[in-house]
Amino acid sequence: MSDSITAGIIIASDKASRGERADGCIPVFEKKLAAVGYTIVSARILPDDEDALFAELVRLCDDVQVNVVFTAGGTGFSARDNTPEATLRAATKQAPGIAEAIRADSLRHTKKAMLSRAVSVIRNRTLIINVPGSPRAVAECLDFLFPELDHGIRILTGSAGECAR
Ligand code: MTE
Repeated sequence: MSDSITAGIIIASDKASRGERADGCIPVFEKKLAAVGYTIVSARILPDDEDALFAELVRLCDDVQVNVVFTAGGTGFSARDNTPEATLRAATKQAPGIAEAIRADSLRHTKKAMLSRAVSVIRNRTLIINVPGSPRAVAECLDFLFPELDHGIRILTGSAGECAR
């Protein structure tokens, strides 16, 4: 695939969606993804409602058909943290290794990484990855994912065939 990898962004935050807190995550996605040549085709801030998050995941995967969706926020232990549940509802296949690897790497930065319930799944030809909802966490997780993530996406979209080492 010589075309740019396309990405959709969902920020899950009650406060940011109501305008009570400025979102600092989308600018980090814009900077980090531009640096690796990904094109962001949609970025929305939603409240932490499982149904709303699920509907946006389905829209990005089925209608917009982005290659990868990144969600930020809503992975912790509070009653309003619903992002992993919405993501698991959208899954057609499990891809747990990415979330496991992010958590393992994040423990180098903060032991609080053990408090993230983030998941990673596939919905048809789209990869969905949850990351925590602070700008610092988004930066740390994205820095960790590249460049290996490209290969997974290219296998998923059918433009790469072999796991050459
Ligand atoms: N992972 C990284 N890399 N950096 C972080 O700052 N914060 C942790 C954890 N994982 C963090 C991290 C914290 S404090 C929490 S509560 C959980 O992610 C869940 O965050 P969320 O509720 O914003 O999704």
